[in-house]
Amino acid sequence: MTVLTYDTPDELASATADRLAAALASAQAAKGTASVVLTGGRTGNAVLAALRSATLDWSSLDVYWGDERFLPAGDPERNETQARAALLDHVPVSPARVHPMAPSDGELGDDPDAAAEAYAVLLADVATFDVCLLGVGEEGHTASIFPHSPAVEESARAVVAVRDCPKPPPTRVSLTLPTIRRATEVWLMTTGAAKAEPVAAALAGAGEVDIPAAGARGKRDTLWILDKSAASHL
Ligand code: 6PG
Repeated sequence: MTVLTYDTPDELASATADRLAAALASAQAAKGTASVVLTGGRTGNAVLAALRSATLDWSSLDVYWGDERFLPAGDPERNETQARAALLDHVPVSPARVHPMAPSDGELGDDPDAAAEAYAVLLADVATFDVCLLGVGEEGHTASIFPHSPAVEESARAVVAVRDCPKPPPTRVSLTLPTIRRATEVWLMTTGAAKAEPVAAALAGAGEVDIPAAGARGKRDTLWILDKSAASHL
């Protein structure tokens, strides 16, 4: 486990974008392609915006999401919409290699379980992700896995529908912790004093049912990427 601390959210975003570009380029150099799992949230989107100017073979990159807010296609609150605005609309990614979770008005209908199942089928052929980006919530959630929720206990399914989420919108679709743990590297990125408590709890060894972010680990490395405020209780 590695903890990286930056003075400001802007420094974090720019340094993390550089680190991500380097990690993905190195995966591409080793095996021809790279894969990244994107997160919603302010910190994640700031990193994506900073990644726009990176030099990368964008056409050899597979893009997945760790969670999605279950809303109609193009809704400004969807993580997909925000990631497209921050990064994907600005770089020459291959559209066929961008893999969003289903919207609530798509061909699967307004059924988050169907959306979760379809994403699990898509991921069945994906053994690993090179980098899984995640945010952290004030009560310790990551992706859309909230403390003491059914999703945090899920061990059989790769992707689940999540209902009654404390963070709006209430209905979401999320990778489960075992799926997140397929990633070679997991990067938990968060900023601000409101995140200091869950960060300190996770790093002090809290259980994943209390602090789901504590259960997000990469096969090779887990990076906690913090600004000074989020690191203030360490
Ligand atoms: C989402 C997220 C969620 C987010 C955290 C942190 O869809 O809302 O994926 O897990 O990353 O809540 O969000 P902030 O960086 O905005 O605090």
